[in-house]
Amino acid sequence: APVKVTKICCIGAGYVGGPTCAVIALKCPHITVTIVDLNKARVDAWNSPDFDLPIYEPGLVDVVKQARGRNLFFSTDVDKGIREADLIFVSVNTPTKKSGVGAGFAADLNYVELATRRIAAVATSSKIVVEKSTVPCRTAESMRTILEANSKPGTRFDILSNPEFLAEGTAIADLFKPDRVLIGSLQSQEGKDACQSLAEVYGNWVPEERVLTVGLWSSELSKLAANAMLAQRISSINALSAICEATGANIDEVAHAIGFDSRIGPKFLRASVGFGGSCFQKDILNLVYLSESLHLPQVAAYWRQVVEMNEYQKSRFSKTVVDTLFNTITGKHIAVLGFAFKADTGDTRESASISIIRDFLQERAYVTIYDPKVEEAQIWQDLSEAAPNLTLETIKKQVTIVHSALEACQQKEAVVIATEWKEFREIDWETVYQNMSKPAFVFDGRLLVDADKLRKIGFKVTTIGRGE
Ligand code: NAD
Ligand code: UGA
Repeated sequence: APVKVTKICCIGAGYVGGPTCAVIALKCPHITVTIVDLNKARVDAWNSPDFDLPIYEPGLVDVVKQARGRNLFFSTDVDKGIREADLIFVSVNTPTKKSGVGAGFAADLNYVELATRRIAAVATSSKIVVEKSTVPCRTAESMRTILEANSKPGTRFDILSNPEFLAEGTAIADLFKPDRVLIGSLQSQEGKDACQSLAEVYGNWVPEERVLTVGLWSSELSKLAANAMLAQRISSINALSAICEATGANIDEVAHAIGFDSRIGPKFLRASVGFGGSCFQKDILNLVYLSESLHLPQVAAYWRQVVEMNEYQKSRFSKTVVDTLFNTITGKHIAVLGFAFKADTGDTRESASISIIRDFLQERAYVTIYDPKVEEAQIWQDLSEAAPNLTLETIKKQVTIVHSALEACQQKEAVVIATEWKEFREIDWETVYQNMSKPAFVFDGRLLVDADKLRKIGFKVTTIGRGE
């Protein structure tokens, strides 16, 4: 019969483990939720008295305020968390491998494996182990083999796949009202019972018809598939944006027109400087690697093109800036508004802004950056990694970080909008114009500003996906 879950442990207090399990704790006051992580600084931040949490998400502080200390705990004591729980989420990072077999494509499963081995080593009672991290298809099988080979007598492990579909910036809203919760299990009686136990946890706030139960491998693959299809939509609209710029068509109008077809739908069709974020690229490359391992080279090439189009979009945008500024930006001063990979997050992983600024630095331009949420130290780290041929000292000579959009635009020759922060829409452009060198250029990489209004002020405006 299904176990009634009363104690949950989540291994990994990151962007997924933190918000997801904080919401479970909020919605299930009868369940004790402990989120553990090896990273002490991160755990300390989750526990900080003034709620200075390690990640920024609208609404997150509120959730943590209500549940922390009641039935939600953050700790570095991984072993204790494991020992006490009857259900364990594995929500550790699965980055793209940097070296070895599959480097540049395959997911690095080292963290998942270490967490799994830790569970096997310290568990003294039966556990439901839930794969929350995004992993290649059939990872649950490897986890089961490791757990079974190392388990103590009388302990059994049931493995579930329960991928997470939240998007950053809207994590709390997504968790409160998910489109669906997906649970994959083996189709044995024990597998179905474990699935039922987890479904009951979500049943505390998610309507039954939104909890989908499927086989383990389908669940694992569905996560990669969902991200691949979402990213593909962006690469499709971005490919069309290049045609728009060359023909005089307008990508807003095209997206609107095609989105009206109920089969296509209006969402996720916003042309941009390119998608970023920790997952789209990683998960597609993971799918490419999987396809290649399965001897399906055409399938691999198909998905690889989604990433290639994104790289093209980013470099195409940088090139447009250089071309428009009379074919040289050497020694010119450019403001870049936005460093996060999307609005409403402080996360910069794979942000298009990084690639664009790297390109500007290689052209020896001076760049002034403003982002409402990204920490300065993060910007220096990202730029150093992106431009390994430049020393941090050189980067700091070329780059200035400031604390408002107006300050960033002072005395600049061009303003580049790289992230769709709402506050950039509300900038006082008259004042910006007065304080810029002339001609004053604006490059809108996010279809954010009213280009006609800016042109009336005097700006020369270039918008992604709009021909003249
Ligand atoms: P993250 O890097 O923010 O967090 C992972 C955490 O796990 C880190 O704090 C790390 O210290 C900890 N960790 C690693 N190994 C550990 C171990 N053995 N014991 C204890 N702690 C350990 O990563 P994230 O963004 O939360 O992503 C986690 C997973 O969720 C990834 O597989 C990712 O693909 C997937 N995912 C992410 C998102 C997203 O929006 N970020 C959305 C859906 C799915
Ligand atoms: C994405 C998915 O939306 C989530 O469902 C998934 O859980 C998550 O990846 C994951 O697995 O990590 P996320 O990357 O947080 O979420 O954010 P998105 O809103 O999907 O945006 C990704 C990138 O695409 C951003 O750079 C965004 O600016 C860009 N984007 C998005 C566009 O350029 N155009 C659009 O129309 C939508």
